[in-house]
Amino acid sequence: MTLNDMNYLTIALPKGKLFEKSLVYLNKLGYATPDLSEKSRKLVITNEEKKVKFIITKTTDLPTYVEYGAADIGIIGKDVLLEEQKDVYELLDLKFGFCRVVVAVPQALKQEKLNDYAHLRVATKYPKIAENFFHSVGIQMEIIKLNGSIELAPMVGLAEMIVDIVETGQTLRENNLIEIQEIYPTTARFIANRASFKMKFERIETLKNELKALTEEFESEAKK
Ligand code: PRP
Repeated sequence: MTLNDMNYLTIALPKGKLFEKSLVYLNKLGYATPDLSEKSRKLVITNEEKKVKFIITKTTDLPTYVEYGAADIGIIGKDVLLEEQKDVYELLDLKFGFCRVVVAVPQALKQEKLNDYAHLRVATKYPKIAENFFHSVGIQMEIIKLNGSIELAPMVGLAEMIVDIVETGQTLRENNLIEIQEIYPTTARFIANRASFKMKFERIETLKNELKALTEEFESEAKK
């Protein structure tokens, strides 16, 4: 029997920025287990009582696990969904993990207009988003795909600009980079495999509604 049998709901969680906050939600709803941790060496963590299995994946791989049904559902940033373009249902905006995908340049290279940067090199872990953005504004750029530490690229002459995700802005500041354009705001999304959504509709819909209620509760608490 494969991991993804009908008795269990398989939930994919991403390593990195969204993990801890996802855990807060899952804890509150009673889905999490004590051994569910980002650092866990166990790759599949089961909550027998709730009939839930968790898998923890690399962020960019998560939509692939959900698209192929290796996970029924998952929590992932909108930025990754836009970049990976996988065929999954996006069921809910969880309204946490607020970040922005931006274009940034070294302070010393700042120009008047976006057009002034034409034909330069852009380092990014979001080549599709970057390509689409520069295409939409009619500027041709050379896109260089990296997998992390994007801010390093302009410092060592690998690229003149970057397209990257910004949360607090600290990494940009510490590396003398300035944002010149926002491309997308992004938050965490609750996604589902298309077949699982039909086959396990009640369970997924229940969890979606529980997550929605919690999102609203957190939102109204934040407004107080
Ligand atoms: C992201 C992004 C920046 C940083 C921005 O990297 O690529 O490096 O976070 O956050 P800040 O605005 O709060 O400083 P991440 O931590 O996901 O790791 P990575 O560089 O390995 O991709």
